[in-house]
This record gives sequence, C-alpha cells and structure tokens, in this order.
Amino acid sequence: MNRKMWVAAALTLAGALPFTARAEIDKKIERLWKGKCAGCHGTDGKGQTDQGKKLGIKDYTTPEWQKSQTDAHIKAAVAEGVKGMDGYKDKLAPDQIDGLVAYVRALK
Ligand code: HEC
Repeated sequence: MNRKMWVAAALTLAGALPFTARAEIDKKIERLWKGKCAGCHGTDGKGQTDQGKKLGIKDYTTPEWQKSQTDAHIKAAVAEGVKGMDGYKDKLAPDQIDGLVAYVRALK
C-alpha cells in the first residue's frame, strides 16, 4: 500500500470505531424506551397505545411536535415528570436520560 492508502485506511478505522460504540449505546437506549416508555408512548413514539389514548399522549413523530420542544424541555419532562407521567430522575442515570432525549428527538 502507498502512503495515501494507509491514510485512507486509518481514517476509515478512526471513523468506524466511535460509530460502533454509538450504535451500542443506541441499542441500550432503544431497549430502555421499549421497556419503560413504549407502554404509554408506543414503540414508534406515536402514542397510539391504550394508555396513550386514555392520557391524550401526542404523536412525537410529527415535525410540529418536534419543533414545539427544546432538548432542555424534553430532558426536564423525563427527569421531573409531567401530568400523567412520573419523573425518571430517581430511576435512570443522567446519561440514560440524555440518551432518551436523543431517542425522542430521532422519532420522526
Ligand atoms: C404512564 C404512562 C407514561 C410512561 C410510562 C411514560 N410517559 Fe412520557 N408522557 C406521558 C403523558 C401522559 C405525557 C403528557 C402528554 C403529552 O405531552 O403527550 C407524557 C409526556 C412526555 C414527554 C413530553 C413532555 C411535554 O412536556 O410535552 C416526553 C418527552 C416523554 N413523555 C418521554 C417519556 C420517556 C422518555 C419515557 C420513558 C422513560 C416516558 N415518557 C414514559 C405518559 C407516560
């Protein structure tokens, strides 16, 4: 291999490593969402569950909903709770809550 190819290979590797680490985190967060949140919000985040309908949970996959929320607001809602939902700050680690904020953000 010439020098250029080595550089290209090194860059590919450097790029690939954080990517696999991130995919692993996302898997855990996805499990968390399915285990703790999807019962009300639905696995797809549309809120079309029995609980979701009863509690009037909104569809979080719409651009309108996404636009109406800031990351800070979502984080506070998950940590402190809102009407109809208990806060998770005693049940989840801060990085899990951050992961869930990103997960909710990615619902589209
Ligand atoms: C017992 C049912 C229930 C569970 C379980 C639940 N939620 Fe909620 N959640 C609600 C209700 C009800 C609302 C308020 C209605 C709305 O905003 O759609 C809400 C609102 C939210 C909001 C929006 C807050 C706002 O001010 O609009 C976010 C974000 C959210 N939940 C995330 C989560 C996450 C993440 C989990 C899992 C850790 C979770 N929820 C678990 C019922 C639930």
